[in-house]
Amino acid sequence: MEYADLLIENHGKVVVIRLNRPKAMNALNDNMMNELGDALRSFDADKGVNVIVLTGSDKAFAAGADIAAMANYTYTADTYPGNYIGRNWEHILDIRKPVVGVVSGYCLGGGCELAMMCDFLIAADNAKFGQPEIKVGVTPGAGGTQRLPRAISKSKAMDMLLTTRMIDAAEAERTGLVSRVYPADSVMEEAIKVAQSIAEMPVSVAMQIKDCVNQAYQVPLNEGVRYERRYFHAGFGTPAQKEGMSAFLEKRKPNFEGM
Ligand code: CAA
Repeated sequence: MEYADLLIENHGKVVVIRLNRPKAMNALNDNMMNELGDALRSFDADKGVNVIVLTGSDKAFAAGADIAAMANYTYTADTYPGNYIGRNWEHILDIRKPVVGVVSGYCLGGGCELAMMCDFLIAADNAKFGQPEIKVGVTPGAGGTQRLPRAISKSKAMDMLLTTRMIDAAEAERTGLVSRVYPADSVMEEAIKVAQSIAEMPVSVAMQIKDCVNQAYQVPLNEGVRYERRYFHAGFGTPAQKEGMSAFLEKRKPNFEGM
């Protein structure tokens, strides 16, 4: 597949989608977000892909929504009736396979919001996260005020949102925004190894776990536990459970191909 604003790399059952507008620090515009939705949907449906990695360049995951593109937007002509952001930014939330975000450099505004829509984040030690929207006179528009406090606490989130202070990779790891940090020159290699280790697991169970974890943000605890248990019980009717438990008892590596 060829895209104007994305690069695609295949690594076995892992596919890497790279945001690619280097001259604009990967500022997120309509074309890029349309292409991203298209790529994500097609890999989600591709039986040869188990895990999707979303990343940017060494300098920037993305420096936010494209300010040049939206500077002259008006409420009546563009944003509310045109459903700006809603129209093409959140396709990632419908993707059922695991999506690992890999962040190097700036990850700001809409870039940070897009990163937070990934299932988990791996950062390079040069990563910088921020929500500087207030400085361009708007609130965040893709979930920054909602996902950031859930990820790193209200106090840290308010600090970042109100002062525009950026946090570095170490602080992002300490506060739980990212799960792992690697040196910038090896982060992609390490992240692909992480993604490949997930790709060796049964993809159907990975999808179920993702679905269950996302339920934790939507429903009360008892309903979430009941939701999880239905998958657990149903698991005993699947080849993945037969293979996984037999392999353990036979002291061999499981082969979850096609499961
Ligand atoms: N939109 C459009 N273009 C952007 C951009 C953005 N968000 N961020 C950077 N660029 C462009 C710059 O305009 C510049 O282009 P030119 O070379 O044509 O002038 C190029 O990328 C390089 O940027 P800088 O020269 O500014 O590079 P720097 O190293 O000095 O600074 C930066 C880097 C700190 C990321 C700085 O560019 C910056 O602060 N960018 C804006 C960050 C921002 O405010 N993001 C929030 C946007 S609003 C939003 O995202 C809304 C939402 O919630 C959905």
